[in-house]
Amino acid sequence: MHITPILLASAAVVPTALAWGTVGHATVAYIASGLMKPETVAYCKKTLGDDSDEFLATIASWADAFRYEPGGAFSMPFHWIDAIDRPPYSCDVDYDRDCTAEGCIVSAIMNYTNIQRTQPYEPMSLKWVVHFLGDIHQPLHDENYGAGGNNITVFVDGVKWNLHSAWDTAFITKLTGGTTLATAKAFSSSLLARIQGSGGAYAAASKKWFRASLKDSKAAAMAWATETNDYVCSNVLPEGPLEIQGKELNGTYYQAAVPVVELQMAKAGLRLAAWLDLIVTGGTPLGPNCKVRPAR
Ligand SMILES: *[C@@H]1O[C@H](CO)[C@@H](O)[C@H](O)[C@H]1NC(C)=O
Ligand SMILES: *[C@@H]1O[C@H](CO)[C@@H](O)[C@H](O)[C@H]1NC(C)=O
Ligand SMILES: *[C@@H]1O[C@H](CO)[C@@H](O)[C@H](O)[C@H]1NC(C)=O
Ligand SMILES: [Zn+2]
Repeated sequence: MHITPILLASAAVVPTALAWGTVGHATVAYIASGLMKPETVAYCKKTLGDDSDEFLATIASWADAFRYEPGGAFSMPFHWIDAIDRPPYSCDVDYDRDCTAEGCIVSAIMNYTNIQRTQPYEPMSLKWVVHFLGDIHQPLHDENYGAGGNNITVFVDGVKWNLHSAWDTAFITKLTGGTTLATAKAFSSSLLARIQGSGGAYAAASKKWFRASLKDSKAAAMAWATETNDYVCSNVLPEGPLEIQGKELNGTYYQAAVPVVELQMAKAGLRLAAWLDLIVTGGTPLGPNCKVRPAR
């Protein structure tokens, strides 16, 4: 989430507005905790000092608070990569063009993955990895236009938002009807069922979602950012920004956004589980040609 006066104004109207919202980040975390190997669960619980089922969900939004704390500002640009593409005509992410000297979400995933591997049980790098694998799956975290949508005003059910926070929070709140960890847990269960259930809507496709290797974490993060950025052209700004500026989005725009939000949450959760499995155990059952773990 980028900082603009419009964002702050909308945050005042809707005080719970955070990047991918707390519900979005917690949903990704719950999906990941449901798919991770037992060794990875144990490792994360020990690292975070939390033996409860909420061990990943409760820390998933920590990075959004930390960046406003004293000494946390350096981590602000790590939450996105500002792709300087031309939506809706062409979408793409280019590391050399789009990742600034201050860093970006791709360099941050590389950095905190590396720290987690070289300094096992270091809690902050784990919290950042959990958060950034969520953020990178939100299309407007991989887009420069209008400060990642922060300067485009829209309405959802009559409430004023900016486009970035609509995708982070408003659509998820409208879809789930809640704003709590319990909301996220219920939402994650329905998405997990699509991945794990026999005949689940994502059962077949999800076997191909994770094709990444720790040997090239830059390529992994760039692939996730590029795939996610495609939705800026197809769903976020399909007719260009002027078509949605100041408009109510609760009709066909929202209907088309929901499947994207759900798919991106599910992909983020599975990829986070597999990424942490690789870091902790060196292997994952969630990659290509591997069976997805049965529901526990
Ligand atoms: C890597 O993370 C450390 C610890 O937060 C930070 O000090 C450093 O600036 C980061 N480096 C890069 C290249 O992001
Ligand atoms: C929003 O950002 C775009 C480019 O990123 C710019 O062309 C436009 O003028 C900005 N709009 C406002 C209202 O600041
Ligand atoms: C969309 O929002 C408007 C304005 O609040 C409201 O009148 C309308 O009933 C909403 N439509 C849907 C489909 O929710
Ligand atoms: Zn964030």
